Amino acid sequence: MVSNEYIIVEKSPALNGTVDLYGAKNAVLVIIASLLLTRGKSRLNNVPASDDVFAMIKLIESLGGQAFFHVQEHVLEIDTSMVNKWQVSAQMMKKMRASILVMGPLVALFGKAEVALPGGCIIGERAIDYHLKNFKKMGVYIDQAADYLNIHANGLHAQRLVLEYPSVGATENIMMAATLTPGITTIVNAALEPEVLDLIAVLRKMGARIDIQAPATVVIEGVTALHPVEHTIVVDRLEAGALLLAAAISGGSLALPQACAYTMDVFLLKLEEMGHEIVVGPHGVGITIKATKEPKAVSFKTAPYPGFPTDLQAPMMAAQCLAEGTSIIEETVFENRLVHVHELQKMGAQIKVTHNKATIIGVEKLYGASVIATDIRASCALVLAGLVADGSTIMTGIHHWTRGYDGLEKKLACLGAQIAVHTMHESQSGFTSQELAVDAPAAKLVSV
Ligand code: UD1
Repeated sequence: MVSNEYIIVEKSPALNGTVDLYGAKNAVLVIIASLLLTRGKSRLNNVPASDDVFAMIKLIESLGGQAFFHVQEHVLEIDTSMVNKWQVSAQMMKKMRASILVMGPLVALFGKAEVALPGGCIIGERAIDYHLKNFKKMGVYIDQAADYLNIHANGLHAQRLVLEYPSVGATENIMMAATLTPGITTIVNAALEPEVLDLIAVLRKMGARIDIQAPATVVIEGVTALHPVEHTIVVDRLEAGALLLAAAISGGSLALPQACAYTMDVFLLKLEEMGHEIVVGPHGVGITIKATKEPKAVSFKTAPYPGFPTDLQAPMMAAQCLAEGTSIIEETVFENRLVHVHELQKMGAQIKVTHNKATIIGVEKLYGASVIATDIRASCALVLAGLVADGSTIMTGIHHWTRGYDGLEKKLACLGAQIAVHTMHESQSGFTSQELAVDAPAAKLVSV
């Protein structure tokens, strides 16, 4: 859904302070889906109130589940006792690719599922062939009619499955189905992102038997039933990354007492190589950053965990735009995840793209501009650039921002950022972002 809101970011002072983190969006979405494997009421703590979470709640409700979201407390209770449907509408699938993650639990539960194809999105084709190929190997039949998949199985069969690429979603989907599949299912070359490990922790609490073997194999021994759980979602390393970069880019200092440094090692290494001072608390919990005033450009390549996360590529690129020297950033996970480059260029960034590689030459200044967020992490990159750009940055497309972050603009504002969400007046609703740019600087900054 396109929002009629936009964000204005003004050049801000150095950001300073201490911030609490919410649970990871990418963990909570799949964990909500996993509750379909149980019957009864579960409780999830530290749940971010981001739009993707609301969309996943709606999906569970559309299947017959009941949800009670105590937004202020960040507590989500889900009762799956009445779940009695296995169809996911095309509308749900279009809203959020993560909807595909109910496929595994539904097939395990009912022996059938009907889901629309998620389709491509701006950052890449994002196929689901690894999910489907491996479900077929487990005995699932898949009929495709137009954009709809009709999935059914007369019992699932445990298999040794090899992923040609450690897909996060495919690992999660297959693993959830395997928890209720008799016998031993093995997933070789599995994704082991912190969010996948959080799902494994939840499934184990439910009574699932899951082992992780070096280098990246997940072994699941099927059980006959799983039970409801209480779980506190792992903190969001991507929200942590965004906040650390906000301090870095603005020359400030920041403490994130809950951040898990051991989930973001390569990212932290790159911040240190830029010249920023990073201090990690005992047992890897808690990160503080003291930014250098003269950051140096660094190069990196995105990769599956524990490599540099693709979800921090765009935000980290914003920090390279003003660093001294040349940075080369290679995106290897998604084939079209450099769309934000064009928007950063509007702000004065010097970036050249060749295939999946961006070469950034640090400049003295960025300038506020009217920009469009094209995906969740691109929206973060543009807000970060806006913090240090001269003048006002007006960002439309903020439905991406609200899909991925729960009030991150408020956290930034508390640290000293001049940022606020505005609502487009009816008279502005047909405006292009260029036209909006003319009008927006006059808008009063609301305190958030
Ligand atoms: C998840 C995260 C997303 C993150 C991504 C990579 C959630 C809700 N989303 O997405 O934020 O950017 O991991 O860390 O957790 N692929 C195929 N066929 C498939 C599946 C994937 O070709 O069946 C390809 C994709 O197009 C992509 C790569 O594999 O190029 C990685 O995708 P995957 O790890 O599956 O990402 P998601 O689970 O969609």
